[in-house]
Amino acid sequence: MDTDNNVVVKTTNLTKRYGDQTAVDNLSFTLREGEIFGFLGPNGAGKTTTLLMLLGLTRPSGGEALVCGLDPVRKAKEVKRLIGYMPENVGFYPELDAIQSMEYIAALNAIPESNARKRLWELLELVGLQNDAYKKVANYSRGMKQRLGIAEVLLKDPKVLFLDEPTLGLDPEAALNLIDLIARLKEDHNMTVLLSSHHLHQVQKMSDRVGIMIEGRMVAQGTLDELSREKFGLGDKTYSLEEIYLKYFREA
Ligand SMILES: Nc1ncnc2c1ncn2[C@@H]1O[C@H](COP(=O)(O)OP(=O)(O)O)[C@@H](O)[C@H]1O
Ligand SMILES: [Mg+2]
Repeated sequence: MDTDNNVVVKTTNLTKRYGDQTAVDNLSFTLREGEIFGFLGPNGAGKTTTLLMLLGLTRPSGGEALVCGLDPVRKAKEVKRLIGYMPENVGFYPELDAIQSMEYIAALNAIPESNARKRLWELLELVGLQNDAYKKVANYSRGMKQRLGIAEVLLKDPKVLFLDEPTLGLDPEAALNLIDLIARLKEDHNMTVLLSSHHLHQVQKMSDRVGIMIEGRMVAQGTLDELSREKFGLGDKTYSLEEIYLKYFREA
């Protein structure tokens, strides 16, 4: 319901056109507090564009987006404060170590130095980088960089995390590691997460609900059981997210 105060993100007919191409087409979905929402879809489906509109970084062509009840365009500063956004290609200064890198982010977010010090070590521990804190980021593996990226977006204590394909390019072990970390953020810190990823097996394990976006339209959203029933009908068999995804994809 619209009035639920546990709604973190709500879009209604959100649309983005680039010229005569519609990147996001009348998208309506809700993200609730404390849930992990798996945001799925092939490349070019409109996932990143949706995130950018929610962040107030690109203007919708139509419809409405609300983050904690706030319009991301009109309340740009407040909304950016609420969202911990990890883009697809996180940029780092390779010459800095993890501590310096986090101190820099803390300063950008105007977090007082005395608070930042303590928090920074807590976060490095949370993401499992406490023993690599003084190593240059240039020497980090991709998985370590992604975990550092998550520590950095957590610095400002966001209400919700937007993770745009954080597992892209990771080997299976590193991807699993990252997914475990995200699941712990939910379990231990009640973090709300909008996660786009192609690692369907992992997404299935950790997501409360998923949305499947194809060519700008959310063709399905719900729990695995709901989508399974919607697409395959009633029955005893439990379908995997991959089976469900591919069926939606092929029939779109
Ligand atoms: N700034 C832009 N200008 C023009 N077209 C864009 C722009 N950004 C994205 N698009 C197009 O919008 C569609 C959706 O892209 P995107 O949101 O990046 O998809 P996804 O993140 O799901 O891979 C694609 O066809 C893409 O080429
Ligand atoms: Mg994208």
